[in-house]
Amino acid sequence: MPEAVVAITGASGALYAERLLRALSDSEWEVLLIVSREGAINLDLELGITPTQLAELPGVSLEDNDNLAARSASGSAKIDHYVVCPASGTTIGKIAAGISDNLVPSSALVALKERRPLIVVPREAPFATVHLENMTKLSNWGVVVLPASPGFYHNPKSVDDLVDFVVARILDQMGIEHSLGQRWTGEEVQ
Ligand SMILES: Cc1cc2nc3c(=O)[nH]c(=O)nc-3n(C[C@H](O)[C@H](O)[C@H](O)COP(=O)(O)O)c2cc1C
Repeated sequence: MPEAVVAITGASGALYAERLLRALSDSEWEVLLIVSREGAINLDLELGITPTQLAELPGVSLEDNDNLAARSASGSAKIDHYVVCPASGTTIGKIAAGISDNLVPSSALVALKERRPLIVVPREAPFATVHLENMTKLSNWGVVVLPASPGFYHNPKSVDDLVDFVVARILDQMGIEHSLGQRWTGEEVQ
């Protein structure tokens, strides 16, 4: 089975992570889930759930963000994809600075050193210049910076439609087939 690390950090947008985990679980991916302290706060605030409850999805197992000896901290663990969703400005800054003081940036730095695919999904408004500079650094190193900024050209009817728009882009990046949202056909504008 393909395997991903999904890290939830303390940016708003827990629903993106929940939807992504469901999609990965439905696609029979194995997922190592890491949730930072502020990530857990936002999970509770926005969805009323705990990291442990999220990890009940088939194929998902929870790693402790304080455990730097966990599997996702090792380059020898064969992991296919790394996603930080949502990604806080703090975690992006740590990755850009090479700081691995907990498991989230540590696993992201494994992705960088092993040249494996890493996606970060920032949510902040507005961005400070330091955020933009850090994201530029990551992008120049091959990281996909995929902001949680849904489009509206597909006439969304619900929050779920907006969330799906972003999750669909993440799944596309991971090469995973899905049926979230409609794809642009080129026939929409006459
Ligand atoms: C309720 C709440 C909402 C937050 N929302 C955001 C956000 O949308 N984007 C962001 O970059 N940081 C946000 N923060 C700040 C981060 O949580 C903070 O930078 C924290 O140090 C991130 O740590 P982590 O990256 O280890 O999760 C928020 C914090 C709280 C408490």
